[in-house]
Amino acid sequence: MNRVAPVSRLAVVAAAGLAVAAIAQGPAALAPAAPSGEMADGNARAEAVLTSTCTACHDLGVLVSRPRAAEEWPEILRRMIGNGANLSENDFKLLSDYLARAYSAPVK
Ligand code: HEC
Repeated sequence: MNRVAPVSRLAVVAAAGLAVAAIAQGPAALAPAAPSGEMADGNARAEAVLTSTCTACHDLGVLVSRPRAAEEWPEILRRMIGNGANLSENDFKLLSDYLARAYSAPVK
């Protein structure tokens, strides 16, 4: 069985909704409105990049179509950039780290 990412698409949508609500209430609402740590924020951002950038050509089923080792992801992402994916250096790093954490086969 593949391990599926802990953050569902629904959670991403909910997080985006929260962010919009926070912005609507002004900057003062931002700090207390963020219940999660830095890593959870990073996960949500990475999921958002996956759902926006990586679904342009295929669905996200490719992420779990077979198990991949953590160190395969940078190589795959480079290839996606070669395929035409519009991924900034920041998002490349964000996704490499996130995919290695959340979408990789456990080491042995
Ligand atoms: C411009 C179109 C395009 C975009 C955008 C794109 N891909 Fe792909 N992707 C492809 C094509 C074409 C293939 C099949 C050929 C290949 O593997 O390079 C593929 C295959 C894959 C595979 C299977 C590769 C394997 O080795 O089995 C994965 C995983 C993948 N993409 C992940 C991503 C991720 C993550 C993103 C977002 C950063 C992304 N793709 C964005 C075109 C794209």
